[in-house]
Amino acid sequence: MNNNVISTEERALPDLNGSALEKTEYHSSSVRETDEIASRFAKIIKGGETILMYGELGAGKTTFTKALFKALGVTDTVTSPTFTLMKTYYGKYTVHHLDMYRIETEEDVEELGLREEIEGSDVTVIEWNKFTDFIGAVYAVSIEYLGENTRKITIALLQKNA
Ligand SMILES: Nc1ncnc2c1ncn2[C@@H]1O[C@H](COP(=O)(O)OP(=O)(O)OP(=O)(O)O)[C@@H](O)[C@H]1O
Ligand SMILES: [Mg+2]
Repeated sequence: MNNNVISTEERALPDLNGSALEKTEYHSSSVRETDEIASRFAKIIKGGETILMYGELGAGKTTFTKALFKALGVTDTVTSPTFTLMKTYYGKYTVHHLDMYRIETEEDVEELGLREEIEGSDVTVIEWNKFTDFIGAVYAVSIEYLGENTRKITIALLQKNA
């Protein structure tokens, strides 16, 4: 397939300058500011989106996800899905949080049946994504470590809802 949103090589971090349909950059100086950026982003969520989180270990992917889910009405405590691969929460939408760090290939993903768990109106956040094609709108959120409390956060629209 050559119409993938993200090529295999780009899964580590898509070229947000080249492939983004829209792109906004933010500067965060604290966890609180990252939380604010995430809750502002939550306002454009309509259901059916996939949000790919990019950034090194400890960049703030889970921190951003927690604030996003809270803004989407999730009241349960959100914890890292590293060992469970996927966690599902219920708020304004059914939201899934995937961590595909330990998954090698897209074939492994298909075998695990993760895709079958996700329905059309669900919101899915993926850390260490291994998928290459998606149904519905796709956003990339890239968090770049600048200093102990500072981050550059880029939110890009990669694919529009069909
Ligand atoms: N401006 C900031 N935005 C987000 N996190 C920040 C910021 N400043 C400091 N931090 C800290 O950075 C850490 C981010 O950890 P987090 O678990 O969210 O990273 P991660 O990208 O999910 O890592 P992993 O790849 O290990 O899952 C937290 O300890 C958080 O308190
Ligand atoms: Mg994490």
